[in-house]
Amino acid sequence: MDSYANQDLDISLIKQFLCCAPLIKMDFTALDYCGFSLDIQKQVLDNTINNDLIKQYPIKTSYQKAFLKLFMQKIEDSGNEIHEDLYAAYCRLVSLSDEESVHYRHFLIDNETSRYITLKENINLISEGTTGLCSWQGALALSKWCAENKEQFYRKNVLELGCGIGLTGMSVIITCSPKQYIFSDCHPMVLDVLCENIKLNFLPNKRCELLRINASERTPKLKLQLKYEQSDVQVMDLKWEDINKRLSEDLSQPDVIIAADILYESSMFDLLISELKCLLTPSNYAIFAATIRNENTISLFLKHLGNYNLAFEECNSPKSTISIQSIDAPVQILKIFQKV
Ligand SMILES: C[S@@+](CC[C@H](N)C(=O)[O-])C[C@H]1O[C@@H](n2cnc3c(N)ncnc32)[C@H](O)[C@@H]1O
Repeated sequence: MDSYANQDLDISLIKQFLCCAPLIKMDFTALDYCGFSLDIQKQVLDNTINNDLIKQYPIKTSYQKAFLKLFMQKIEDSGNEIHEDLYAAYCRLVSLSDEESVHYRHFLIDNETSRYITLKENINLISEGTTGLCSWQGALALSKWCAENKEQFYRKNVLELGCGIGLTGMSVIITCSPKQYIFSDCHPMVLDVLCENIKLNFLPNKRCELLRINASERTPKLKLQLKYEQSDVQVMDLKWEDINKRLSEDLSQPDVIIAADILYESSMFDLLISELKCLLTPSNYAIFAATIRNENTISLFLKHLGNYNLAFEECNSPKSTISIQSIDAPVQILKIFQKV
């Protein structure tokens, strides 16, 4: 989606609000510089809670309420009076039910063009028996890393494993123009929400052409296909367990394999690495973003790579990314490739 309006105000606060960054970590320093005048307060309100985007695709009500409360507290602390529209907005929010199970989040891709990705998400990190219905910190870090290393994806065939609801993929397609991008996951509800999100963001673009909206008898695992600008975009139902088998059926060897936050279940590592090995050739590689919640888990994964004769190197982390989860855990970016 294009053009998030009004750029008088520093964008960082708005950027944090739109993606529901934890309030405990919200950075108001930009306002410390421009102050809390009535005019600035109105600008913040109009670009956050009262913005048309938020009215059309709301972020969770409890978050909007808590944000506004915190903002009013900051104004009071600064000794300024509070704009009457802020009270009106607060009263409106209080009258709304805040028991929704799904909401939207909006991720500004880069500050210059003000393009953003809107995602329908579940409000819980785990729901419907999957971790895939919301965006994880690794997805945001990997999006940023890919944008900083565009040349590795430009006109390349990219396969994403365990893609969830699409943050990394859509960001890579928009910022890096791959030749082909295959989103893959195995959870039916995740795949449905992913397709919804891709259509929501890409179909309004005049240079997007919808090629297939459902699996067919001939291609039962292909859930969606479209052309977005220069990129062939596909959504595939792909279990890691089946990768080797699928390579002889409907999957081609990609130039780059990417994945974010899929290294959390150590019992899956053997299977995941043995199937990843089938995708790797002497001329391609994988980039995995892993949020380090437990050092032992990642060490175990790296050890397993060696057992399969795969090598890895740690890449530079992307420049600062917003924290979208309340825990403080760094994200490691790993390049994985065949040992020579
Ligand atoms: C923690 S989520 C990460 C989602 C997304 N990459 C992100 O960072 O926001 C892990 C994802 O891996 C998928 N997944 C788990 N096991 C899988 C398997 N065996 N085959 C394919 N996908 C799997 C889940 O459905 C889920 O979408």
